[in-house]
Amino acid sequence: MKKTNIGTRAIWAGEKDSLAFGATQVPVVHSVSFGYDDMDEWYDVAVGKKEGHIYGRNTNPTVQAFEEKIRILEDAEAATSFSTGMAAISNTLGTLLFPGDRIVSIKDTYGGTNKIFTEFLPKQQVEVVLCDTGDHEAIEEEVRKGCKVLYLESPTNPTVKITDIKRMAKVAKEVDAIVVVDNTFATPVNQNPLALGADLVIHSATKFLGGHADALGGALCGSKELVEKVYHYREINGATLDPMAAYLLLRGMKTLKLRIDRQNDNALAIARHLKTFEAVDQVFYPGLEEHKGHDIAKEQMNGFGGMLSFSVKGGMETVRNLLPKLKYSNRAANLGAVETIVGPARTTSHVECTPEERAAMGIPEGLVRYSAGIEDIEDLKHDLDQAFQSLKSTVTVNG
Ligand SMILES: Cc1ncc(COP(=O)(O)O)c(C=O)c1O
Repeated sequence: MKKTNIGTRAIWAGEKDSLAFGATQVPVVHSVSFGYDDMDEWYDVAVGKKEGHIYGRNTNPTVQAFEEKIRILEDAEAATSFSTGMAAISNTLGTLLFPGDRIVSIKDTYGGTNKIFTEFLPKQQVEVVLCDTGDHEAIEEEVRKGCKVLYLESPTNPTVKITDIKRMAKVAKEVDAIVVVDNTFATPVNQNPLALGADLVIHSATKFLGGHADALGGALCGSKELVEKVYHYREINGATLDPMAAYLLLRGMKTLKLRIDRQNDNALAIARHLKTFEAVDQVFYPGLEEHKGHDIAKEQMNGFGGMLSFSVKGGMETVRNLLPKLKYSNRAANLGAVETIVGPARTTSHVECTPEERAAMGIPEGLVRYSAGIEDIEDLKHDLDQAFQSLKSTVTVNG
């Protein structure tokens, strides 16, 4: 049978088993526990011999529908969920890595992930090697020395650098390393890391999947064997997705395709528009032909995503004046919502890092992360026009 397209899957997939009373929408099941009169049935469910729910830290019908939807969107054998994206990342790494193991990754991962690499894993005697993002030869060399995990993020937060996932997965296979890809920025609409050879895909569902900035969540997709291992770690450690959040994420995911298509278009138009302002120094967007990773992105992505970033002349002083003038943007530490969101990387994605660490990652202090919303593009462009225009009267922008 022909596989259903992703927009249709986003709406229909994964919900059937969690519907009750003929309801057409997945209910929010707030019950912490699930009762059984039959002691044998209870036992069978508890030991996994029979389908069902026992206790909310383990499974829940609303949460299960969310897991099933993201599993189908990523075309994975299995999926599990977490309270946040960081919980998905830390539970996955906590399951896979032991003292003496080695992990290879890139310097440009999300700030929280980077902290796990630089602060927490070394304390657990895990050797962490961070390569320059985009330096494929360096990553290959480090992977070939042997590692348990190759951890990637593409596009990266906030400078949207691109890594060739297929090429990296190929070298990882040579040493039996598990390839983990954070697909938060791309979403399954724009990129399918499993199809490119990755073993596990992570999402901060808080971002584009939910899309409405009203629920935190995380997801992991991959083989049954690996996902079940991480699920076991999570069920014991308790970083469980709340049923109300799962409901909000499910509702948001129904419009995922529509939103992502629009955000892809808006981000490209904004990236091109930003280049026309004298006060803008650099624009980072993989959809721009001059972007270093453009060709790889074109090959491995269906769309270039809703995220971009730009640096301005005059650094933070300009940013301080510019951002409050935008009428149709939230100035907030989030991304991927229907509303456009802006913020300096030093206060958002990389607030955990020191200025020196940010500089080492190639993140200028005046870098603005721009998450394109689904507003009408003409309004977003005019908003930038008026903000940059008023900037001219308040600060002197040095050549
Ligand atoms: C790429 C990426 N991965 C993971 C996370 C962490 O997600 P959460 O805030 O849901 O823990 C973020 C948060 O911004 C992110 O941008």
